[in-house]
Amino acid sequence: MNAPLRDLTAIQARLRELQSHDLPVHGGRTLAYVYDAGLPEVDDLGREAVAAFAGSNGLDPTAFPSMLTMENELVGFACHLVDAPPEAVGTVTSGGTESCLLAVQAARDAHPEIARPNLVMASTGHAAFRKGAHYFGVDLHIVPVGPDFRPDPAAMAAAIDDDTVLVVVSAPSYAHGVVDPVPEVAAAAAARGVRCHVDACIGGWVLPYAGRLGRAVTPWTFAVEGVTSISMDTHKYAYAPKGTSLLLHRSSALRKPQYFVSADWPGYTMINSTLQSTKSGGPLAGAWSVVQALGDEGYLELAAQTFATVERIVEGIAAIPGLTLAVRPDSTLVTLVTDGSCDPFTVCDEMAERGWYVQPQLHHEDSPANIHLTVQAGTLVNVDELLTAFADAVAAAQATGPVQVDPGVVAFIEALDPAVLSDADFDGLLAASGLVGAAADGSLELPSRMAPVNAMLDVAAPAMREALLVAFLDRLARPVR
Ligand SMILES: Cc1ncc(COP(=O)(O)O)c(C=O)c1O
Repeated sequence: MNAPLRDLTAIQARLRELQSHDLPVHGGRTLAYVYDAGLPEVDDLGREAVAAFAGSNGLDPTAFPSMLTMENELVGFACHLVDAPPEAVGTVTSGGTESCLLAVQAARDAHPEIARPNLVMASTGHAAFRKGAHYFGVDLHIVPVGPDFRPDPAAMAAAIDDDTVLVVVSAPSYAHGVVDPVPEVAAAAAARGVRCHVDACIGGWVLPYAGRLGRAVTPWTFAVEGVTSISMDTHKYAYAPKGTSLLLHRSSALRKPQYFVSADWPGYTMINSTLQSTKSGGPLAGAWSVVQALGDEGYLELAAQTFATVERIVEGIAAIPGLTLAVRPDSTLVTLVTDGSCDPFTVCDEMAERGWYVQPQLHHEDSPANIHLTVQAGTLVNVDELLTAFADAVAAAQATGPVQVDPGVVAFIEALDPAVLSDADFDGLLAASGLVGAAADGSLELPSRMAPVNAMLDVAAPAMREALLVAFLDRLARPVR
């Protein structure tokens, strides 16, 4: 007898209802988290491939040879983008963070003789490397950036010592969209015999085309001597469904320590190139299909559209009083700051009211609170609307003035110790701020406007922000019984 099923139509309806509360992934109006090429037929192809391979298991390439073929072809395509030498190899991972984690893990495990390995990175390097350092017991040597949000190569070189196993540079950094001085830093790393990883998670599928479109880009690929590995995410500017990134190494010898193998148990032979062991074939098939569909010419055109959008935004913002660029973008990420007439968090909320998601970023060291835009090809058709929305949003934010954090709440936060933040402390802060309502069962009701919450987080130091965010997510993630 077949297992009895519940009402499948009702389940699909519920899925649609749940999804209707999410940010839209199409339409080019969500300028963080998602990447929209504006090509529905390519999206459909990718989704169908995800569905078709959802049950395939990338754990064993001899059982699922299709996975190996797609992985090798995808890596081969990427090799052309990043000037990889013939000996280069690569791995498809589940996303940018996994690629970064594996770069750290492989660098550490290449040097078992170093008792306390460390990693050198600018303060603007992606938090994924902090996660990798945390997971794999690697110390961090963080180098500050200058007013242009790039690190001084001499300072990066000086931070390398005998225990350094990896130097990380960004192409570009997420927060400010600028490319680090890769040639100088890679040369310094090579001179000390240290691996140099280029985090091109967000730039890897778009910067190679920038050069071909006549834009000046600091060299960052394997053409730069000393670059030993590169991460580049297919689920970003390759416009693939979520769930894949590539980690490329200059040679298979450099990749070897990334592998985990265990033959010392009675089950199947376990040899993994990634953190996951069993892994769905869906994301890989989705990425492979989208890359096949777009090909080099497709990506060139999408990059042209994306950079045209960036230029329109740069010009348009210059005409909006109160809003300016934090720095001239090197790539497709735009960072905007406000003058004292309004605050970026309120502008983000006002943009949301107008149907645009732009991302608030808290201040960090000398980087002021700002607004991040991940510009994508699908935004070009609506760029005039985007600029009008910004002009209106800034005017609205100026009318209300910068969001103020209650001095009592500031004092409350300052009195808390992030190292031992308790549930009671968190509840006290919620009550004092009046920003996030807690229902009788303890579950949180999200506020409709985030500016007051962001402003409150912005007054806290990073350690306190982290403690508050953990308390917040912990409270959100509770089973529905
Ligand atoms: C430069 C950079 N590195 C790493 C990551 C992490 O990627 P993911 O969110 O896919 O884990 C990102 C994400 O935006 C990024 O921009």
